[in-house]
Amino acid sequence: MEKILITGANGLLGTSLGSFLKERGENVVTSAFKSKADFNFDLSVDAECNHFLELIKPTVIINLAGMTSVEFCEENLHLAYAANTRTVENLAKWIIATKSKCHLIHISTDHVYDGPGLHAEENVKITNNYAMTKYAGELAAAFVPCTILRTNFVGKSKINSRESLTDWVYKSVINNKCVQVLDDVYFSPLSIKRVVNMIYLVLYSKPIGVFNLGSDLGMSKAEFDFAFAKSLGFQADNMTKINADKALFLKAYRPKNMCMNSSKFETIMDVKLPKLIEIIDEVANEYRN
Ligand SMILES: NC(=O)c1ccc[n+]([C@@H]2O[C@H](COP(=O)([O-])OP(=O)(O)OC[C@H]3O[C@@H](n4cnc5c(N)ncnc54)[C@H](OP(=O)(O)O)[C@@H]3O)[C@@H](O)[C@H]2O)c1
Repeated sequence: MEKILITGANGLLGTSLGSFLKERGENVVTSAFKSKADFNFDLSVDAECNHFLELIKPTVIINLAGMTSVEFCEENLHLAYAANTRTVENLAKWIIATKSKCHLIHISTDHVYDGPGLHAEENVKITNNYAMTKYAGELAAAFVPCTILRTNFVGKSKINSRESLTDWVYKSVINNKCVQVLDDVYFSPLSIKRVVNMIYLVLYSKPIGVFNLGSDLGMSKAEFDFAFAKSLGFQADNMTKINADKALFLKAYRPKNMCMNSSKFETIMDVKLPKLIEIIDEVANEYRN
């Protein structure tokens, strides 16, 4: 049986992944930076990372740790580098130094794309600090046996401290709060549940390489937000469409098209990923229950 270390285990994805794997009887150890976990350490500090990995001796690491705020990354490059790049470097360095057979599953992002899509894996275009530091993390991961999953996800958060896109839309329609939604930013996310299911498959087949993991086809964030609100039974009169460059609440550049072609993942894993419209109904159900 694998000994699975989930880093960043108390985040949006980690809370769902951890409970999913534990429910299936997997041998899971969790780590976080400050929030409560089996182990607390700063992955960006070489000596700390080494010490704890030696203690845990995982056979699989699922790395979810990172700095996910695009705005914060833009204004704090050195902190973004520490959280998104140095952390992965340290994990890879331990695997190399100890000649461990440990497999790394590293979660990256669709943010490394821009321009006309659907993007294949080689079509990288870096446009902001978040994308740059996540991409540099991928390069560090590639020094060891590794599955790199470029993804994006929506769904109901299990933690108060971390709001997902759909949590934000849900709150805005429930409270009839006026919000602006991005009309010229396209993406192809999956639900958190689907990403968790796909990571579970990867855990035992361990494909090596970089793979897009998104829904089939995509849509603009505005289309998504309206469709999600409609699926919940709301008119969404509170939402106004706006272009990202006109959105005063955004400081960092946002890629206009992050839609991914996930056929490489579908082929190697022998799965069919759902259309985004199916994901919307699936996620809306999470808010009804
Ligand atoms: N959210 C999205 O929609 C999205 C989209 C595409 C890709 N991704 C990628 O998917 C992964 C998981 O995302 P998420 O939204 O679940 O993340 P999240 O909620 O922001 O959680 C990230 C976790 O990383 C931990 N962390 C940060 N710096 C660390 C360090 N130096 N040492 C140890 N732990 C550290 C934090 O631990 P503490 O809780 O202790 O502070 C935090 O809980 C990330 O790599 C992200 O880039 C996310």
